[in-house]
Amino acid sequence: MITESSGSEHILDADLFYPRLRTYYIGRKIETRSAVDSTQDVVRQRAGAGEAEGFVLVADTQTGGRGRKGDRWFSPSGSGLYLSLLLRPRFPAIMPLPLALGLAAAQAVEAVSDVRAELKWPNDLTVDDRKLGGILAESQVQDGVVLYVVAGIGINVHEPAGGWPPELARTAACIGMGATREGLLAELLNAIEANYELLRAGDVEAVLTEYRRRCPYRGGAPVTFVGADGRPEEARAIEIESDGALLVELPGGAEQRLYGHQVIGLRRTALGFVTD
Ligand code: BTN
Repeated sequence: MITESSGSEHILDADLFYPRLRTYYIGRKIETRSAVDSTQDVVRQRAGAGEAEGFVLVADTQTGGRGRKGDRWFSPSGSGLYLSLLLRPRFPAIMPLPLALGLAAAQAVEAVSDVRAELKWPNDLTVDDRKLGGILAESQVQDGVVLYVVAGIGINVHEPAGGWPPELARTAACIGMGATREGLLAELLNAIEANYELLRAGDVEAVLTEYRRRCPYRGGAPVTFVGADGRPEEARAIEIESDGALLVELPGGAEQRLYGHQVIGLRRTALGFVTD
């Protein structure tokens, strides 16, 4: 059930949420807060206190929302879906987990709207090359074992009441009219559980096939990454590998695998169109 934590407002309408929720364990325990610093921190604390897998915290607004690579995540009240989900994966296919979460976000957007969200590797949700949402997966690792993952997801649902700040005005997008945060949340949790179960069953290819279908940032897409000497290098993105790495072709023809932190820039290309 949706529990409103002390001092919270009612931010989710249960009647819009539960009829759409089809999960067994993802999001079956949900708490809402009207405002937090970051939902990631709250769920991390709960994980440390033994909270079970599937726990979700949703906030109406975040004062210190965090993005990847140290960016901040603009989290105005009433306009976006901001949540963190606790996962305790006990299966080998953990590397592609962030891709599976990004895919779930795209599938949820498709389920509640006509927007055809694309996936910008590793897990940005985009439309017309503008950012619609993002995933921040933070793991707690001990002795090489992942104890838990706090999966933070932010999706822009409606245009912020005060408009986008200037730095986001040209790069951000939202789903727009018709979508509700409740419907999106339910579809997101449904899709996460389905994709998570595929990873648990070892069917990484099923997840990647759906991911690749929505990812035009490969097949020759120009990529800039940090080379071994710390300087930027150019390459062409070829394909998303089964462990979630980005396979690129260097100017001399050699291939290299990149991981999220190495990539500085990635530009879209038409699917399957290899330019050189
Ligand atoms: C990105 O940079 O693309 C990742 C953005 C992740 C934002 C979400 S909003 C809910 C959760 N709490 C945070 O502080 N960040 C994540």
